[in-house]
Amino acid sequence: MAVGIDLGTTNSALSFVDPAEAADADFPPIHVLEIPQVVAPARTEPRRTLPSFLYLEGSETFVGTYAREQGALAPTKSVYAAKSWLSNAEVDRTAKILPWDAPEAGRLFSPVEVSGKYLSHIAQAWQDQQGTALGDQDVVLTVPASFDEEARELTVAAAKEAGLGGEGRKLTLIEEPAAAFYSWIANHLSQSQKSLTDGMNVLVCDVGGGTSDFTLIRVNRTGDRVEFTRTAVGKHLLLGGDNLDLTLAWLAESKLGKQLSLRQRSALRRQCAAAKEKLLASDTLPSVEITVLGGGSSLIGGSMKTQLMREEALELALEGFLPACALSDKPQDDKRSVFRELGLPYVSDPAVTRHLAAFLESAHTAPDAILFNGGFFIPALLRQRVADVVERELVRQEASHSGEPGFGSGGLRRRCVLRACALDGPGRHRAGRPAADLLHWPRRGARGVSGAARVGRGHDAGAGS
Ligand SMILES: Nc1ncnc2c1ncn2[C@@H]1O[C@H](COP(=O)(O)OP(=O)(O)OP(=O)(O)O)[C@@H](O)[C@H]1O
Ligand SMILES: [Mg+2]
Repeated sequence: MAVGIDLGTTNSALSFVDPAEAADADFPPIHVLEIPQVVAPARTEPRRTLPSFLYLEGSETFVGTYAREQGALAPTKSVYAAKSWLSNAEVDRTAKILPWDAPEAGRLFSPVEVSGKYLSHIAQAWQDQQGTALGDQDVVLTVPASFDEEARELTVAAAKEAGLGGEGRKLTLIEEPAAAFYSWIANHLSQSQKSLTDGMNVLVCDVGGGTSDFTLIRVNRTGDRVEFTRTAVGKHLLLGGDNLDLTLAWLAESKLGKQLSLRQRSALRRQCAAAKEKLLASDTLPSVEITVLGGGSSLIGGSMKTQLMREEALELALEGFLPACALSDKPQDDKRSVFRELGLPYVSDPAVTRHLAAFLESAHTAPDAILFNGGFFIPALLRQRVADVVERELVRQEASHSGEPGFGSGGLRRRCVLRACALDGPGRHRAGRPAADLLHWPRRGARGVSGAARVGRGHDAGAGS
C-alpha cells in the first residue's frame, strides 16, 4: 500500500492507495482510513479524521474527538497544538512540558511523545483494519513547508515512536503545500491539463488550525509533460484558525463582562471554535448562543450566557485576519499582543493578508493563481477575500514593481475562476467540504487559460466576479 498521513495541528488523517487498484491507473482511487475513537463517554465511533488532541482522565489517555471536547473542560489535563510545540524552538521539544497548563508534576509528555501518540492511534486503526503493521508500509508524512530541520527531525522521531518506518521501509516527509497541489491535480486531472500553463506561478495559501504556510510553485510545461518547482517558502508562522477562536473567545468574555478562570476560558474557546464554523458557513444564521458554566458547586445556577453574532465573527475574520492591505504593508510586531501570553510563540499580528504581502514582496513574484488549502479556508467568503486582496492590491503592485505585463485592472476584472473540491493534504478528503480550491486568473498573452469555466462538486457554476 502507498500510505500518506497528514499530521495536523488540529486534525490528523491517513489515506492510502492500493497497488492492486493502481496498476493501470494514473490516479487510482484514494481511500481514507476510518479511525475509531472515543467520541463521548463510553461511545467509540469511526471518523475520517482524528482531532489532534490528548486528554488525561485518571490513568487513561484519550486522543481524538472526546479528548478535544472533554479536554476543553480541563485544560490542565489536555494538550492541543502539539505540532506547534514541536516546532517551537524556544522550548526543549523532547522535554516533558505538556500539558502546558498543568503544574510541573502534571506535565507528562514531550511534544514528540504527544505527536507519537496520535500516530500510534492511527497505526492501531490501520493494524485492526488491514491486519498488518503500519510500520511494514512505506509512509509519506506531511510537514509544513516552513518547518525547519529540527522540527522535521522531531516529526520523524514521533513517527518512529509510533513504530512507523520499520526495517527496510521508507518514511518520507512531504511539504503540505506540495501535497495540496498534487491532490488538487489528482482530483482535477483534465482541468489541470488545461489550466496549468508553462511559466505559471501558483501561490499555495495554506492556513490550518495553527499554521499559515505560503509557498510559490512554478509550473514548467513541455507538451503534456508538466513539472513543478517550489520557488519560495514563507516563514514559519504560528497563525491559523485557532487564533480566530481565541479572538472570538476574548470578545465573548468581554461581552460577559466577567474575568473567567482558565478552565472557563478553555471551554469558551472550544465553543467559539464551533460557533465560528457555524456562523461563517451560513448566511442565514444570525447568532450562536454561548454558555459558560459557573465555577464551584452551583454549576448550572451560576452559568453565564451571551451571543456571538454572525456580523461579529465576519468582522473579526475579514477585518482582523484578512484586512485589505498593500504590498508594502508589513505585519505589525506588537509586543503587547495578547497572543503572546499563551505559551506558544504565535505571531503578534493576526492579519494573514499582511503576512502574505510580506511573503509576496520578498519573493518578487506575481502569482497567476492561488490554491487554497486548510480548514481556515472552508468558508468560501474567506477564500474570496484573500483572492480579492491579492488581485486588487498585491498582484497589481507587484506587477508594476517587476514590470511584468498582464495584471492590469481590465485583465483582473475579467478573470476566470476555477473551483473544485480536493483533498486537503494527502490524507484528508473532506466529502462535501471543499478545502483545497484553486482561484485562477488568466495572464495576458498566456494561452489556454482564458474562457475556462468554474467546475466542481459543491460549487455553483458562474463567473468569478
Ligand atoms: N467550517 C469551517 N469554517 C471555518 N473554520 C473551520 C471550519 N472547519 C474547520 N475550520 C477551522 O480550520 C482549522 C483546522 O484546519 P485544518 O484541519 O486544516 O488544520 P490542521 O491541518 O490540523 O492544521 P495545520 O495545517 O496548521 O497543522 C480550525 O481552526 C478549525 O476551526
Ligand atoms: Mg494542515
